Amino acid sequence: MRLSRYFLPVLKENPSEAQIVSHRLMLRAGMIKQAAAGIYSWLPLGFKVLRKIENIVHEEQIRAGHIPMLMPTLQSADLWRESGRYDDYGQEMLRIKDRHDRDILYGPTNEELITDIFRGHVSSYKDLPLTLYHIQWKFRDEIRPRFGVMRGREFLMKDGYNFDLTKEDALHAYNRHLVSYIRTYERMGLQAIPMRADSGPIGGDDTHEFLVLADTGESEVFYDSAVTDIRLGSREIDYDDKAQCQAVMEEFTSLYARTDETHDEAVFQQIPEGRRRSARGIEVGQIFYFGTKYSEPMGANVQGPDGKQVPVHMGSHGIGVSRLVGAIIEASHDDKGIIWPEGVTPFHCGIVNLKQGDDEADAACEQLYAALTALGLEPLYDDRNERAGGKFATMDLIGLPWRITVGPRGLKNGVVELTSRRTGESEELSPEAAVRQIAGIYGRTG
Ligand SMILES: Nc1ncnc2c1ncn2[C@@H]1O[C@H](COP(=O)(O)OP(=O)(O)OP(=O)(O)O)[C@@H](O)[C@H]1O
Ligand SMILES: [Mg+2]
Repeated sequence: MRLSRYFLPVLKENPSEAQIVSHRLMLRAGMIKQAAAGIYSWLPLGFKVLRKIENIVHEEQIRAGHIPMLMPTLQSADLWRESGRYDDYGQEMLRIKDRHDRDILYGPTNEELITDIFRGHVSSYKDLPLTLYHIQWKFRDEIRPRFGVMRGREFLMKDGYNFDLTKEDALHAYNRHLVSYIRTYERMGLQAIPMRADSGPIGGDDTHEFLVLADTGESEVFYDSAVTDIRLGSREIDYDDKAQCQAVMEEFTSLYARTDETHDEAVFQQIPEGRRRSARGIEVGQIFYFGTKYSEPMGANVQGPDGKQVPVHMGSHGIGVSRLVGAIIEASHDDKGIIWPEGVTPFHCGIVNLKQGDDEADAACEQLYAALTALGLEPLYDDRNERAGGKFATMDLIGLPWRITVGPRGLKNGVVELTSRRTGESEELSPEAAVRQIAGIYGRTG
């Protein structure tokens, strides 16, 4: 993409409505625009990051054996009356009447709808295990929408639902979700710690929330500092291997890590004093096992091996896809702007032409652009007639992790400059070597 042809409405001034850094930077970098309270348009740069996050979520869910689909945003109220949640859900649910005076609602979550699909098509234990998921917009009429996309009213969520014959199988599904979620967050450059949580209106006993530690987080959390040393890294996971998934789950959840709702001061005090931490965190996901809470009232039964009808064991598992955009920025920024982790960056690198209109500089930039594009990478080339300072400020604000700077003076010596947004360190090297280096960072080969 050439910046002169892109739509990147950056703001020079700090928007006064933004209370936290991610909201401020998303507005300033031209990623989002508020359409109504808690409802946002995703402008091109923000949309690119959102799609990258979505893709990682899809890849890791499919890797775990979970099946993508798409359910609608609008749902019939009747299904929610069957489960008993239509009246329970309260004012967070946006209730709408259609022209025939029928009650519909903008889905805040999808347990009812998926259970209805399941009971209509699955009748035998032989079709289990089954985990279906989708990434779809949700609506919750939050009392206090705030912090930009972090607490929106309309927001994008991945929600997945497992159907299993036994509790044991459903707990394996729970573990698969836990492991795949950790992988998902790590690929986004995030550490999200699974913490014992409260189940809220979804219901059930077994539940973990995934929290990114950040001062601006809305949750109060308590943990043993040793949990922050655990990483999944690049180890091979066989998602069919119950023992392996269980072991990883235990590795990540054995140390003390809880949200304030389940915090137990007596247990907390048993942690060595130097490792006790209380902090704030951003909830970026939650997993639940809730047994037959929905299958029983809604009649989602299968025939078991003994020929008897039994309600299926279920769980639901959510990732806050749009909230993650804000959470990543909270975890990765500096005074000048965003610093995207390579896994989610909207463009792989920036190209800054210090002297637009100079034949040599223009040609060198075009060559870099073509070489990077040929490798399947997406550069953002700042080809505007602007002074260097302004170009650097824009690149720093939008946070591409790598920048190649091209100017007539360097080109005389056959070099361009490659700069890391994170460290600020620059290196002079030939244009070819710069391309090779970036290709290596993103695992592309020529
Ligand atoms: N209003 C919101 N705006 C953006 N993302 C949200 C919002 N509410 C929930 N999410 C995201 O969706 C994920 C799954 O939804 P879940 O039902 O667990 O939310 P929740 O526990 O009600 O969230 P919260 O406690 O923050 O209100 C959450 O972990 C969070 O990342
Ligand atoms: Mg939650």
